[in-house]
Amino acid sequence: MLLGASRGHDSIPGGAIKTENINHEFLDAVLEGRQVDVYYHFGVASDDPILEKLRGVRAVILAGSGERITDFAERWSALSGDPEIIAFPKEERFVTRYTGGVLFSSHGMGMPSASIAVQELMRMVYFLKRGDLEALDDVFWARVGTSGGVGLPGGTIVVSEAGLMADLKPFRLLQGGIGTYWFDGEFPAATRAAIMAANADSGLPIVEGKTIATNEFFLEQFRLDGAIRRETAQTKHEFLEWLHANGVRNIEMEGAMLAAYWNSWGFPSFAMICAVLLNRLEGDQVTSTPEQLHDFSEQSGDVLFNYLQQRLLTS
Ligand code: URA
Repeated sequence: MLLGASRGHDSIPGGAIKTENINHEFLDAVLEGRQVDVYYHFGVASDDPILEKLRGVRAVILAGSGERITDFAERWSALSGDPEIIAFPKEERFVTRYTGGVLFSSHGMGMPSASIAVQELMRMVYFLKRGDLEALDDVFWARVGTSGGVGLPGGTIVVSEAGLMADLKPFRLLQGGIGTYWFDGEFPAATRAAIMAANADSGLPIVEGKTIATNEFFLEQFRLDGAIRRETAQTKHEFLEWLHANGVRNIEMEGAMLAAYWNSWGFPSFAMICAVLLNRLEGDQVTSTPEQLHDFSEQSGDVLFNYLQQRLLTS
């Protein structure tokens, strides 16, 4: 267990949240009791007594699978010394666990699924913090996941500098026929630095770099093993080399949207920590053994927990 000397607290209390991007019309009506907010995909609502136990939330950690969430919650329960692990009743879509001031939630696969999870969780955290902007500034958000490496071997852990889409531009959404909603894809440098510092003595293979999030696992990641094939070995190689030359170190399917939404509210502390499953310059298929995949998952969890211990347990 790594416990660092510094507090490693990188948030900027009071003033980071951009209030103009918060949906005050709806969320403040919930705070004032004029409206109940139904967090439908989690099976809870703002008038559910279970939420009272989550008022002290200080971090929200997302991961793709429910199994990883239950594993992370058990590890954090032991590290933080909180024996109670709270679960929301509905697990059909997302699995959640709360313990030691940290809400862990799965987000499924891809940006559409993860966007539902993160928007409902942002609404929930706003409610839990009673709309207090300083309290919201203090909440740390992260995704801990898996990815394909660009020039990196399996087992490497990438802490993202930016979350971009497959054309190296930030996340955007169609605004009907009118235009495009553009977002910001940067991950905060101070949080990244604090994560790296918390893991400086860990011996884990951690690198920093840009990450692209694709809309699809096969075609947009230039795989040649999908049911549909549009690319050749040459165009795939050119794409991956182009990514690498532009500072991209891994490919996954959520980070561009997550960075976009967290930046939209102006959260000062958020991050993405992803284990690399394979080097995409060497292949397309994930052939790691279950033991290797377990180790990769554990190690990305180690990187998270070394930081969370500094941030939450030494302050
Ligand atoms: N996740 C992805 O999106 N791509 C990979 O290659 C591996 C994990």
